[in-house]
Amino acid sequence: MKKVLSGIAVVAALCFAGSVVRAQDAANGEKTYKAKCAGCHGANAEGKPAMKAPAVKGKTAEEIQKQISTSPKHAGFKSLSADEVKEIAAYLATLK
Ligand code: HEC
Repeated sequence: MKKVLSGIAVVAALCFAGSVVRAQDAANGEKTYKAKCAGCHGANAEGKPAMKAPAVKGKTAEEIQKQISTSPKHAGFKSLSADEVKEIAAYLATLK
């Protein structure tokens, strides 16, 4: 019985750690987004017609990575790491 209980405790701790990590990712992503992307895509990722930039709410890391590596508008962001892109995606997912 003790074993089962400690097993449950470990699983619960892992779940909790997972959600903390994700919240931290989104917080880091928010910083990167506000510093590098908000100027064109808007403070809340709603898009800015004046910049011809579409809304990017809920974009996945794959979509962002693709844009960053193919669009000339994003030529300056090739230096973003895969982790930073994931963090931005985690933040954009919170805006849906
Ligand atoms: C200089 C202005 C500018 C900045 C800064 C910028 N973007 Fe963009 N972005 C655009 C424009 C304009 C488009 C429209 C497609 C194109 O021209 O490539 C676009 C398109 C996109 C798209 C595709 C949206 C769609 O619906 O197809 C994504 C995703 C994206 N940007 C993410 C980002 C992220 C993440 C950052 C910050 C690292 C960023 N952009 C910074 C101007 C910008």
